Amino acid sequence: MRRKLAAGNWKMNGSRAALAEVEALCAAHPDSAVELLLCPPATLVAPMADARGSHPLRVGGQDCHSSESGAHTGDISAAMLKEAGASHVIVGHSERRTDHGETSETVAAKAAAAHAAGLVAVICLGETLAEREAGTTLAVVADQLGASLPEGATAANTVVAYEPVWAIGTGKVPTLEQIAEVHEYLRKELATHLPDAADGIRLLYGGSVKASNAADIFSVRDVDGALVGGASLRAEDFSPIVSALE
Ligand code: G3P
Repeated sequence: MRRKLAAGNWKMNGSRAALAEVEALCAAHPDSAVELLLCPPATLVAPMADARGSHPLRVGGQDCHSSESGAHTGDISAAMLKEAGASHVIVGHSERRTDHGETSETVAAKAAAAHAAGLVAVICLGETLAEREAGTTLAVVADQLGASLPEGATAANTVVAYEPVWAIGTGKVPTLEQIAEVHEYLRKELATHLPDAADGIRLLYGGSVKASNAADIFSVRDVDGALVGGASLRAEDFSPIVSALE
């Protein structure tokens, strides 16, 4: 009942020339059962939305401000992303939490702003290596989830991405048992916060997903797709991941 979602986060990578990868991806998956989403840097949201043509590929931002407008130099609002062609926005990525000191409360405010503008919020959370080694993973992700979910979150406007910080860009991936444990726990936690929506909210795994491990990760119950970084930049790397989900 939950449609699978293959999402790519280009982070601070890409250029107009890289939009050829989008065309190749769309050509490789013309009529996919899987929902496809790419989140490029803000400058590429509108060009990417154009490059997809009539393909149902979704385009998303990587962050938005919690305010509608105002004196926030360098920031971008959810409505601006929407106007540029975005339907989604990532909020609370660990690189935002680390580089910009974003708290879960900030993330909830950004997710609420995304919802108000009609965007789907992809809320990211995950433990650090120190937290994993201290045995506090479940407590950490439960706290992050509870504090990052805005009022009014539904299965239609919210996706949750579990991204262990130590697995991002490192080539290290949790065991399938570890992924299963966290996803099952997040599903239960969702049910305590949003009893009506919990079953429908998609839970993505993110962190060093690649063609060689995607099928195994997608076999884990409660994994509804992936949020992919490095391997989403080129169609030849991302396409096999999409295929593993199809
Ligand atoms: O948001 C996706 C991400 O942080 C994972 O990055 O490069 O490990 O797939 P990567």
